[in-house]
Parts: sequence; C-alpha cells; structure tokens
Amino acid sequence: MQLTAAIQNFNFDHILLNAAGVMCQTKAELDTVLASNYTGAVVTKSATPALREGNPTPRYYEMAQNLGTINSMGLPNAGFDYYMDYVSQKQTDKPIFFSIAGLSKQDNLDMLRQLEASDFDGLIELNLSCPNVPGKPQTAYDFEATEAILTEVFTFFTKPLGVKLPPYFDIVHFDMIAASLNKFPLAFVNTINSIGNGLVIDPETDTVVIKPKAGFGGLGGTIVKATALANVRALRDRLRDDIKIIGTGGVTTGRDVYDHVLCGADLVEVGSQLAVEGIGVFERLETELATILAEKGFTSLDQVRGQLKTIV
Ligand code: DHB
Repeated sequence: MQLTAAIQNFNFDHILLNAAGVMCQTKAELDTVLASNYTGAVVTKSATPALREGNPTPRYYEMAQNLGTINSMGLPNAGFDYYMDYVSQKQTDKPIFFSIAGLSKQDNLDMLRQLEASDFDGLIELNLSCPNVPGKPQTAYDFEATEAILTEVFTFFTKPLGVKLPPYFDIVHFDMIAASLNKFPLAFVNTINSIGNGLVIDPETDTVVIKPKAGFGGLGGTIVKATALANVRALRDRLRDDIKIIGTGGVTTGRDVYDHVLCGADLVEVGSQLAVEGIGVFERLETELATILAEKGFTSLDQVRGQLKTIV
C-alpha cells in the first residue's frame, strides 16, 4: 500500500503529521513526533522572534463526547533561535516544516531572512492565521495585506515556502485568496487553521471554559471537519497544480483522513485528536486508512486524491 506524498523534492513516507501547535513546542515533543513510525514529517510550534509564555490559563479545553477543542494559547513558544537550533542539530530522514508566526510583518520578514541565510533545508510554513493574540487580526482575512507580505517575501526568499490559512466561509473569498496565492511560487498551502473566536460554555457554571479574551478561542476537532473539507476542496479546485495542499481540521478517524485526500489533500495534519489521544493516534489513523483503501480495492493514495464525486 502506497501511503506517500511529495512536495517539490521532499518525499513523505507517510501522509500524517502533527498540526502546528500540538506536540511540537519543545525539542522532546518534536522528537516524539519524528520518532513515530506513522508520521511523514513534523511541524514546529509557530515561532516568534523571542520566547513567549502565551496567554493566561486555562487556555485549552476539550468538549464532551470528543466534539472538539477550544484554545487560546497565545503563541507560547521557545523563540525562533530555539527551533533553529533544533533543526540544525537534528539528523532525520523526515522533512521538517519550520513554522513561523510573527506578531508583525517585520517579524515575519526578519525570521524569513534568517531562514534564507541559514543551512535549514526543510520546508517553511508562514502562519497567517493565528486567532489568539489579543489585538492582532488574522492576516489572511486581509487579502491586500496577504498579497503585500508575499510580494515582499518573494523578493528575497528562495526556499520552499507555504502558508497556513484560516478557514474561509464564502465562495468569493475562496476565489480571492486562491487568485492571490496563485501569483506566487508557493510550495504548499495548509488549510485550515482553527475556526477563530468560537465560544464554549460550561453548563454547570454558566461560565466560559477558557480565560483569555473572555472565553473566545480557536475551535478544532470533530466540529470543524466540514469546514476543513470545504476549504481543502475549494482551494484544490482553484490553486495551481504545483501548489500542494496540506489538509488540517477535524481528523479523528481514518475515514476523516480519507475524506481530506478525496478533497485533494497531499498531506494530512492532526491537531486536536493528537492532543486528546497522544502519539498513538498516528498508528491508529494510518491503519484505519489502509483498511478503507484495501476494502475499496485501492493500492495507492494517488487513486483517491482529489477524486471526490459530485451529484450530476
Ligand atoms: C496559536 C493558535 C493558532 O491557531 C495559531 O495558528 C498559532 C498560535 C496559539 O494560540 O498559540
């Protein structure tokens, strides 16, 4: 069974990896994801230039019945140099995605200049969609700002770069973001980040479940799956073929992975369910996926990728 994928010259022996933010803040966590026999890569916690403690706790909550999660972490991370140190020391056959999420355009340009000048030979993910830093809008909801930063980035950046997008909810927005991204030599697009600024209430106490931003936070897990699939599908339909898609959002079963691939995902990331279940999730998901493919008589994911049917 061929459960592999490629982005440019990078080959992935498995299509699953962690979603940025989950199990990737410390070197030990990154090592745990890399060491799994069922991951094809690892993505680092989105870095800011300097270390951040993040938002006050409680800042993460799991809903009952595995409906999903809400978080407002606020970009806790060990700082750009820590992750640069990790990737420069690490010996691994698996590609590494270095995720960055500056608090300003200048932060992002500075980190990208350092990545460009470094020996780092993996992929870079520019996160334009963090919903949880008070006062900082999600850049990728501003189409002009998104195009402006990418225009500047590609005046000097030559390494394989992708962007992490927030979910879009309007067909015109799918058209607009894709038209914009198609102007640039992007290696990949990662869709979706959490659905920003949801609100979850504890019925016992009539209280919000997380402290930052009066309870507003990013939603993940089961409840975001339909939105994630729509974004993967809509962007696969609109982006140049050479821009690969990482599907993220709502993956709790092998069927969810299969659905992302049907919609056109090359790789599939696991966020909430990795937090809920731990590193063993990758073996379970890949095994469930392989069973589905075998039952349907497929021998390769290439026979499935993008093959979603519509009703005629
Ligand atoms: C955080 C959340 C995100 O969804 C993201 O893309 C980056 C950071 C956070 O709260 O730490």
